[in-house]
Amino acid sequence: MRFLPVPQDPKILSSFSSQDDSAVYQISEDLAVVQTVDYITPIVDDPYTFGAIAAANALSDIYAMGARPVTALNLVGYPIKTLPIQVLGEILRGGADKVIEAGASLVGGHSIEDNEPKYGMVVMGLVHPDKIIYKKGAQPGDVLVLTKSLGTGIITTGIDQGLVGVDTIAAVTRLMTTLNRDAADAMRSIGVHAATDVTGFGLFGHLLELLKASGVGAEINFDQIPVLPEAWDLARQDVIPEGSRNNYHFVMDSVDWRSEVPLSAQMVLCDAQTSGGLLIALPKEKAPPLLDMLRKGGNTDVEIIGEIVSSPNPAIRVLGKQDF
Ligand code: CO
Ligand code: CO
Repeated sequence: MRFLPVPQDPKILSSFSSQDDSAVYQISEDLAVVQTVDYITPIVDDPYTFGAIAAANALSDIYAMGARPVTALNLVGYPIKTLPIQVLGEILRGGADKVIEAGASLVGGHSIEDNEPKYGMVVMGLVHPDKIIYKKGAQPGDVLVLTKSLGTGIITTGIDQGLVGVDTIAAVTRLMTTLNRDAADAMRSIGVHAATDVTGFGLFGHLLELLKASGVGAEINFDQIPVLPEAWDLARQDVIPEGSRNNYHFVMDSVDWRSEVPLSAQMVLCDAQTSGGLLIALPKEKAPPLLDMLRKGGNTDVEIIGEIVSSPNPAIRVLGKQDF
């Protein structure tokens, strides 16, 4: 992206140059268009489930901006000579059902022949320009809320190696197919300072982006971070995807591990997520109503994981319960 010219049109409210989750173009005083694109390779065996995960993952960047998705276009790469067309049909059905669940419409798409299946979407959403939630805007004293448990990268790697039980497979599938819609609705109705979604760069990678954009630091309470329990065990057995390892090395210089956190647990906090939750910075007094709203809607993962502090550089300090 650093090779690209920075867009100059003043109606562009966000683009790659601000590192926000979606591009935003203002079309009138009370309306802005939000656009994003994402596609992935299969991370589960069941094609319908893979389609649903890919769609939830693509829709997520729209929700991270506080917007509502309205239309989606399929993006497909598929080895049509070696895999049955029915499998592709199932992938697309899984994606289409997710778009309907999101209250949006699937309106088209494009496919090419490819060596391995790839699936994702271009998504367009709408938002009032005053309601856009950027990565910038987090303020010292804000609390940080995470709306989904971590561990999807480690656990899907464990599934690949046949190390994961059926209950955990069901839990990780449910997590990755869950839309961030309720979290976005709650952000809009309660009002928050900043947000992003936790995906490939892991919790700490995405948190650092938010801190950098806002010019602040964070203190994270290790004991409060929601994690799928089996991820801890798998990390101890060194079942860690390459991407998560890379994330760890990328963020390490910015993280002060104040409490005794073993290396395997540090990896969990850097685990690359697919269709992860929203990471939200909001005033302390607004956190209980936000948590309440999400928990009443059936979200059993959402937690306050720390707070924003003033800091000359975007650093993360990790504390244990005893330190708070
Ligand atoms: Co994102
Ligand atoms: Co994305």
